Amino acid sequence: MTAWTDHRTFLRRALRRPALIGAPAPTGATLAAEIAAVLPGTGTPAVVELGAGTGALSPAIRSRLSPGSRYVAVEVDGELVAHLRRRMPWLEVLHGDAADLATLLDGAGVGPVDAVVSSLPWTLLPPAQQRDMLAGIASTLAPGGVFTTISTLTALPTRVRELRRSLDSAFAEVVATAPVWRNVPPSRLYVCRGPRSC
Ligand SMILES: C[S@@+](CC[C@H](N)C(=O)[O-])C[C@H]1O[C@@H](n2cnc3c(N)ncnc32)[C@H](O)[C@@H]1O
Repeated sequence: MTAWTDHRTFLRRALRRPALIGAPAPTGATLAAEIAAVLPGTGTPAVVELGAGTGALSPAIRSRLSPGSRYVAVEVDGELVAHLRRRMPWLEVLHGDAADLATLLDGAGVGPVDAVVSSLPWTLLPPAQQRDMLAGIASTLAPGGVFTTISTLTALPTRVRELRRSLDSAFAEVVATAPVWRNVPPSRLYVCRGPRSC
């Protein structure tokens, strides 16, 4: 299997389930490297990736983490779960909905999490659902933990403002990074710390 297979699988699922996938192509290497750089580069953290897709972020995340770290990916689409398991046998993939994160992590024996990485299509979700999911994510974080999510610059400005408000309701600190224009679609990260639910 190759990067071409990843792109083809991604596009097929995006055409079949556009509201779930929410992007035309897997995240590019520049943004993946930026996300990985937010993660703890020392120690043995527990890291969770939400919406792993075809695994565009996964090798960069894996490279960032020291041996002994726990890295778990959550993906709701069954075909993408099967793809990930074939393509990245080293990745621990949980088939489920990020809305049920605490239950999924409990079932996998993952304790408080040091970092959660997300590329979920937040701006396609109603604000109430965003807030519920973000509160659930925040509640899984260990003290000092970080939540990072991709936000596409092509989303409607009103939806981006809603997402920003939802992030502010869940976290004490929300920092937007500079746009990565070469990503498809151009995107930035929000890096969030200090869960308000703690
Ligand atoms: C924009 S794609 C990102 C895929 C990949 N991480 C990347 O960066 O290329 C969003 C992914 O989130 C998954 N997803 C959407 N809603 C989800 C949910 N509630 N729980 C888990 N995964 C979800 C989709 O199936 C899709 O794989």
